[in-house]
Amino acid sequence: MSPELPEEDVATLGRIWETRAGINLGPLDLIADGKARNYVLQIGAARFHGFVVRRGEAVFGYVDRCPHAGLPLAQELDRYLTPDGDLILCSWHGAMFTVEEGACVGGPCVGAKLTPWPVEARDGRIITA
Ligand code: FES
Repeated sequence: MSPELPEEDVATLGRIWETRAGINLGPLDLIADGKARNYVLQIGAARFHGFVVRRGEAVFGYVDRCPHAGLPLAQELDRYLTPDGDLILCSWHGAMFTVEEGACVGGPCVGAKLTPWPVEARDGRIITA
């Protein structure tokens, strides 16, 4: 850790919060229906952290940063959903978000939204949009 930078700046150093369209994220079947998956993209010297939730043939992507305290949502790999799979869950303080809109509907940041990461399923693959 750099002693010259505040801790938050160090944590976000080299982070980017969006990606260009057209990046192939791999087969749709990497995510089981009703589940979610983490993605970390190294783009030049920068890193992007996001996750994708699959609902049938539809996919919903978000930047992996909770609007409550700016933390990545999952403390355990790919664990982004409530046990029933209906909502996105932040593991730190229990914020819950709708899968389709990323809107917080419970917990400490009701009314806030996850930052969308535009993705789409095309020809059996997940592609950034
Ligand atoms: S950081 Fe997500 S609920 Fe607090």
